[in-house]
Amino acid sequence: MSAETGMSRRAMLVKIGLLLNGIVGVVLAVPIVRYLVSPVTRERQIGYESWLSLGGLEQFPAGQTRLATYRNPAVNAWDGETADIACWVRNVDDQNFQVFAINCAHLGCPVRWFAQSSLFMCPCHGGAYYQDGSRASGPPERGLFQYHYKIEDGKLLIKAGEMPTPGQPVANKAGGKPTCA
Ligand code: FES
Repeated sequence: MSAETGMSRRAMLVKIGLLLNGIVGVVLAVPIVRYLVSPVTRERQIGYESWLSLGGLEQFPAGQTRLATYRNPAVNAWDGETADIACWVRNVDDQNFQVFAINCAHLGCPVRWFAQSSLFMCPCHGGAYYQDGSRASGPPERGLFQYHYKIEDGKLLIKAGEMPTPGQPVANKAGGKPTCA
């Protein structure tokens, strides 16, 4: 075997090796890129303007606070029951409602409603909130987060693609002016 033939064979093997490395790199990169861009594409699919129904108004009697659930619009097929999100609905006077995130504004534990004392209580560190969601006592520095809502065809809808967070204004009735906490 001549030195020239040996060189060209080596060069060919190097090229094949590079090609195979490139193919493996692309195969590995596709799921990673899909994972990284999925929040953006999913967000576009569901839209942050998604209004989801919590059910008919008859489920929420005037003057009462009831638990409701909705399905997370950004759900994945494998999310199962974890995609069912609970919230508290307060029917103030049949005209005005409040829909509270179930998570405590301190560290996110689910708060419970106690009709006897008209308080939301957090089991984790003793945070308490009045019936209108404002802070009563304990570690939370603010009231419960609220969803924007509207009433359509006898149903209560919330803007569910938009999770309430400290950076957002306090929710209000649809069309109403949001106010800051
Ligand atoms: S998580 Fe509710 S008081 Fe700490």
